[in-house]
Amino acid sequence: MRPLTTDQIRAAYLDFFHAKGHAIIDGASLVPENDPTVLFTTAGMHPLVPYLLGESHPAGRRLTDVQRCIRTQDIDKVGDASHLTFFEMLGNWSLGEYFKEEAIHMSFDFLTKILEIPVERLAVTCFEGDADAPKDEESAKIWKKLGIPEERIGFLSKKNNWWGPAGLTGPCGPDSEMFIWVGDGSPQGNPATHEAEWLEIWNDVFLQYNKTAEGTFELLKQKNVDTGMGLERTAAVLQGVKSAYDTDCLKPILEKVLSLSTAPDSPEKMRHARIITDHVRAATNIIADGVKPSNVDQGYVLRRLIRRAIRSARSLGIEANGTFTSSIASEVITRYAQPYPQLKMLEQDIREALSREEQQFAKTLQDGIKHFDRALSEAKNLIDGSTAFHLYDTFGFPLELTREMAKERGVHVDEVGFAKAFEEHQALSRAGAEKKFKGGLQDSSAETTKLHTATHLLNAALRRVLGDHVFQKGSNITGERLRFDFSHDQKMTEAQIKEVEHLVNEAIDKDLPVRYHIASVEDAKKEGAIGVFEAKYGAEVKVYVIGDEGNVSSREICGGPHVARTGMIGRLTIQKEESSSSGVRRIKAVVSGGPKEIQIAEQIS
Ligand code: ALA
Repeated sequence: MRPLTTDQIRAAYLDFFHAKGHAIIDGASLVPENDPTVLFTTAGMHPLVPYLLGESHPAGRRLTDVQRCIRTQDIDKVGDASHLTFFEMLGNWSLGEYFKEEAIHMSFDFLTKILEIPVERLAVTCFEGDADAPKDEESAKIWKKLGIPEERIGFLSKKNNWWGPAGLTGPCGPDSEMFIWVGDGSPQGNPATHEAEWLEIWNDVFLQYNKTAEGTFELLKQKNVDTGMGLERTAAVLQGVKSAYDTDCLKPILEKVLSLSTAPDSPEKMRHARIITDHVRAATNIIADGVKPSNVDQGYVLRRLIRRAIRSARSLGIEANGTFTSSIASEVITRYAQPYPQLKMLEQDIREALSREEQQFAKTLQDGIKHFDRALSEAKNLIDGSTAFHLYDTFGFPLELTREMAKERGVHVDEVGFAKAFEEHQALSRAGAEKKFKGGLQDSSAETTKLHTATHLLNAALRRVLGDHVFQKGSNITGERLRFDFSHDQKMTEAQIKEVEHLVNEAIDKDLPVRYHIASVEDAKKEGAIGVFEAKYGAEVKVYVIGDEGNVSSREICGGPHVARTGMIGRLTIQKEESSSSGVRRIKAVVSGGPKEIQIAEQIS
C-alpha cells in the first residue's frame, strides 16, 4: 500500500479519473442551493441531482470531484475512533454514459494499481435482490473476472446495498461496496460473514431508479453511476493507523487540543479531544460557507457543534471564554489551506463568529447555572425532568452536565422525566422535519421551476432598480415560495419594491423565451452574465438567457432547470423585504396563476 498523505490521495484520485476522461469540477457548498429538503450537502451526488435526472451538465457526462459533506445523524457517537460529522468524499460520475463494467474496472484499478492495496485484502458486496430490483449478479461477475474470489463477495439486502435517495424522493439504486480487511491475522470471509473486520471505503452506486413520492421505483431516463470514497478512512488505511483522528490531516488538530488540556490521560480525555477536533473542523467549514450560529436550520446545527465542543473543552479543564474554538479553527485552516484556499481567505470571519458564539455560550452557561440553583432551592434534593429538559433545551446543557452538577451538590436528577420530555420534543421536531422533507430531494416540480425562473427575473430587476452592487447572496426555493438574499445595505422603499415587482411581471406578460447555451466562464463574463462564477462548476457553464436578442431581461449562470417561456410563471408577488444580515437584504415572494404543466427551457446553438 502506498502511504499517501491526505493531499496526495485527493490529487491521485482526481488525476486518475481525469486521465479516464472525467472533467474535474469544484465541490459545491455545504449548504445546498435551491434544495429545501436537506440542511447540508451529504454526498457528492447531492449537488448533481438535476444532472442525474437528465439535465445536461456543462462539463460533460464524466465528472469527478472532492465534496465536503456534513452528516449529523450519528453526532452522539462522535468521540470514538471512526465517527465524524464532517468528511470529504471523493467521487466520480457517469451521467448516462458508462455503467457497471467500466465503473467497477476503474474502481478496481484505482485501489490496486494507484493505491497499491493488495487484492488479498479486498472484499466487496453486491445487492441480493428483492421485489424492486433483481439480484446484482452482473457486478459480482465483473469483480470475479478482475480477480476478487467468490468467498470475498457478499450479497446483502437493501439496507446495506442500496443507496439513495438522499431525501425522500430522487435517484437511487443498488450499489456495490468495497472493503478493506482491518481485522487481526489473515483476511476471512467477506462483509456479509465478518462485518466488523471489513471496513468500507468506497461505494459504486448504480443510479438507475427514481423513487417517487408514492414510494415506488421508476426507471430513470438514463443509467448513471455515482461513486463515493471516504477520504479520511482511506487515508487511515493507507497510513496504517486505526483511526481517522490519527491521519496526517486530523492528528495535528487533535494534538493541539490535547496540548491545551490539563486533564490526566484517560479514554474520556481522548473522547472529548476527538469531539472538539471533529466539531471545530465541521463548524469552520460551515461558517466558511456563509452560515452563522442561530436557532434555526443550519445555524442551529452549527450552534450545537460549537457548544458541544465547548462543553468537551470544559471536561478537559480548558477555559473557553472566547478564544478557544477560534484557536483550534486556525489549526484546521492551516491543515486545509492548500485544497481549500477560501478557508484561509475567510479566516478572520470564521474566528470572529466562533469567538462571539463562545462568549455568548459562556454567558448562557452562567444563566443556566443560576436557573439550576433556583430550581434546586425550590425542590430541595431533586432536579425534576422538566427542569433538566429546560436546561438542555434553553441553556444548551446536555444531561451529562446537569448530572455532573447535581452530583457536586449531592442531589438527584429525574432522568426518566428528562427522557419523557425529550421524547415529546423529538416528536415535535420530527413533525417539523417531515414538513421540511415534504418536497423530496431537489424537487424539480413545475412550481419550483417557475419560482426558479422568477428568481432570475427578480435578480435582474433588483439590479435595474437598485444598482449593480446587487449580487445574489443566497437562494432557497420550496414548492411554495422563493427566498432571495442579495447585497444591498438599506431597506428598500415601498416604491422600489413595487417597481421591482412590476418589472418582473412585465417580463412575464411579454412571455419571453428562456434558453441556455454553454460557454466558458470567461465568455460568460464577457457577455455580461451574472451569477456565481467561482468554485461551483468547471470551466464550462450554462448561461440562461431570458428574452430575445436586443431585448434581454436576464443573463445568468445557472444549472437549471427553467421554464421555457416566462408566461408560464404566472404572476409574482413580493411578500416581504427584510434584513438578512449586515449588508444583505432578503426577499420572499410567491408566484400564482401559471399553468399546471410546464415546458423546460432548452439549449440553443
Ligand atoms: N452517494 C454514495 C454514498 O454516499 C456514493 O455512499
